[in-house]
Amino acid sequence: MSNGLAAADLTQARPRSAAESAARDDRRRAELHRLWARGRAFLGAELAIMGGAMTWVSERHLVAAISNAGGFGVIASGSMSPTLLDQEITATKALTRHPFGVNLITLHPQLMELIDVCIGQRVGHVVLAGGIPSTAAVQRIRGGGARVLCFAPALVLAKKLVRMGADAIVIEGSEAGGHIGPVSTAVLAQEVLPHLTEVPVFVAGGIGRGEAILSYLEMGAAGVQLGTRFVCAHESIAHPLFKRAFIRASARDAVASVQLDARFPVIPVRALANPATERFREIQRQVIDRFNSGELSQKDAQLEIEHFWAGALRRAVIDGDVEAGSLMAGQSVGLVSREQSTADILAELVGQALDAIAGRDQRFTSALSGSAEGQGAGG
Ligand SMILES: Cc1cc2nc3c(=O)[nH]c(=O)nc-3n(C[C@H](O)[C@H](O)[C@H](O)COP(=O)(O)O)c2cc1C
Repeated sequence: MSNGLAAADLTQARPRSAAESAARDDRRRAELHRLWARGRAFLGAELAIMGGAMTWVSERHLVAAISNAGGFGVIASGSMSPTLLDQEITATKALTRHPFGVNLITLHPQLMELIDVCIGQRVGHVVLAGGIPSTAAVQRIRGGGARVLCFAPALVLAKKLVRMGADAIVIEGSEAGGHIGPVSTAVLAQEVLPHLTEVPVFVAGGIGRGEAILSYLEMGAAGVQLGTRFVCAHESIAHPLFKRAFIRASARDAVASVQLDARFPVIPVRALANPATERFREIQRQVIDRFNSGELSQKDAQLEIEHFWAGALRRAVIDGDVEAGSLMAGQSVGLVSREQSTADILAELVGQALDAIAGRDQRFTSALSGSAEGQGAGG
């Protein structure tokens, strides 16, 4: 009896007409929208996909393109002065009427002035990156009427940031491009998502396809943040040679910077291996030798190591010097195979997430069908 019912359900499961299949697409779209409803509401965007701020790359054109295509663009303020940031926000507003955010680096000596620029410009969302922010910074942003997003490298810090007033948390795994923590996205997501429900959590690092987006949403994420995938957008001003390096690279080429000596810490950064990577090892070796021989103080040795990469991202992104510059990229670079418009990239990601929902429906249907047949044959 129950087999008969299951079989009847299955015949109905196959769409018989264009209208039926359109209704199915609508249902899948509705499911995706339900899964990321919290993220969409928080960002005020059609899609809960943030364009992760990338210094030199995430300027007005890419940011506006992402927001115009339904995502949420974020300006990377990097080392910009307050005046430059003010101009960049004004220029971005001229290109989009949709919401976008600003990413500020907590170590910036003029952080408070940069926050005031965001508030003065009525930017709705400020992302604080580059370390745990001060309560004063978080409260200044909130007091000015904007929402604060903070990066959390572990659950305990995520909870602390929420207590400090963070309105949302970004967890970014070590697969990401740029400055990275030690823990992978998959593990961070399991550590944080089930236990942090007070505020929306966005997952970043290593996401290059819609299936991965869907899986993090199903684990409880409000949305996602992608950086690497947007570098080769048509609207990205990255130099053609920088983009070509991305298109040619595979996942394993995006490596974390290597530290040779525990006495001289190196900030971990994930970037495509190039001659500068090798030169950085060499410089570290030389500096350590000079320190060991008494030629350099510890402080000067550390400074020489830190200065190696100064200006290197700009050299690669803007000047196209892919040999001496820093090719910051995440492991998802292996999933970047061509230049595309930002709208295409977002449409592709959403399409893949919808296909994944459809694939799951189909697997469920065939599993039912198999068990119905099996039970039928046995009975
Ligand atoms: C070239 C490059 C520059 C970046 N610069 C910044 C930055 O200035 N501030 C920041 O918070 N994150 C920065 N990131 C990280 C991104 O915002 C984003 O979180 C990350 O790229 C997500 O991981 P994915 O690269 O695997 O997509 C950068 C990433 C790249 C690839």
